[in-house]
Amino acid sequence: MSQNFKLYSQYYDLLYRDKNYQAEANYLHQLIKQYRPQSTELLELGSGTGKHAYLLAKLGYHTLGLERSAEMVEIANKTPMEHVAFKVADITDFQLNKSFDVALSLFHVISYLTDNDSLINTFKNVNRHLNQDGLFIFDVWHSPAVNFQVPEKRSKTLQDEHIHVTRHAAPVIDREHNIVEVNYEITVEDLKNGQKTTFGENHPMRHFSKPEIELLAYATGFEVLHAEEFLSKAPSSVETWGVCYILRKK
Ligand SMILES: C[S@@+](CC[C@H](N)C(=O)[O-])C[C@H]1O[C@@H](n2cnc3c(N)ncnc32)[C@H](O)[C@@H]1O
Repeated sequence: MSQNFKLYSQYYDLLYRDKNYQAEANYLHQLIKQYRPQSTELLELGSGTGKHAYLLAKLGYHTLGLERSAEMVEIANKTPMEHVAFKVADITDFQLNKSFDVALSLFHVISYLTDNDSLINTFKNVNRHLNQDGLFIFDVWHSPAVNFQVPEKRSKTLQDEHIHVTRHAAPVIDREHNIVEVNYEITVEDLKNGQKTTFGENHPMRHFSKPEIELLAYATGFEVLHAEEFLSKAPSSVETWGVCYILRKK
């Protein structure tokens, strides 16, 4: 998985250009105002190309993003801004000389942690780096929805002025471990010379039930304040692929 985002990072922003990061930043701002209004210092786990951090800075927050992919961090650092910083780090194993009011982990980053040790280490690390009553806000794949809807093959095609990208996703479902291995085949065509490059990516994703997150929270020094569908705020159900959890440090 360490190499996963190497090539992927170059096409990441194009693949997700329709994702409404502004609406997500506003949503997070609203959650922070509701559950810990005095918060300013944010730690973002798996910060990718930095979109949330920049938008949150415009809303008055200071963010340090931790991201395993050096390529993603390089893209994130292309537009430096006050109160926004990124560091190449593994969220399962980091040590910072700073504590934060809120930790965020967005767009299913926690679902990339498929084994219990990685999850427990990450949650404990986050807990250690939070101020009193600090929040941990993250979204994960929701087991009832994954089991009910069952992931299928999907394709996505996008183009900008430089490249044309086609991505086929073929899921392999491991029901015994709550993991869906998403195998991507990505073809990138350079529009200048018509040259095509095809490569594969494998993203094992774990999905979680509410009691599982409650147990994880309990074991790592958190309480679950609330859970809802990410962005829409609807109650979680078999229709809810991404559930947002708001945890508080005990
Ligand atoms: C789907 S992307 C989400 C990126 C960003 N949060 C966003 O919303 O655009 C998942 C990110 O998690 C990062 N990631 C996965 N496992 C990680 C780990 N153990 N430590 C640090 N980053 C990790 C990946 O490199 C990738 O950038």
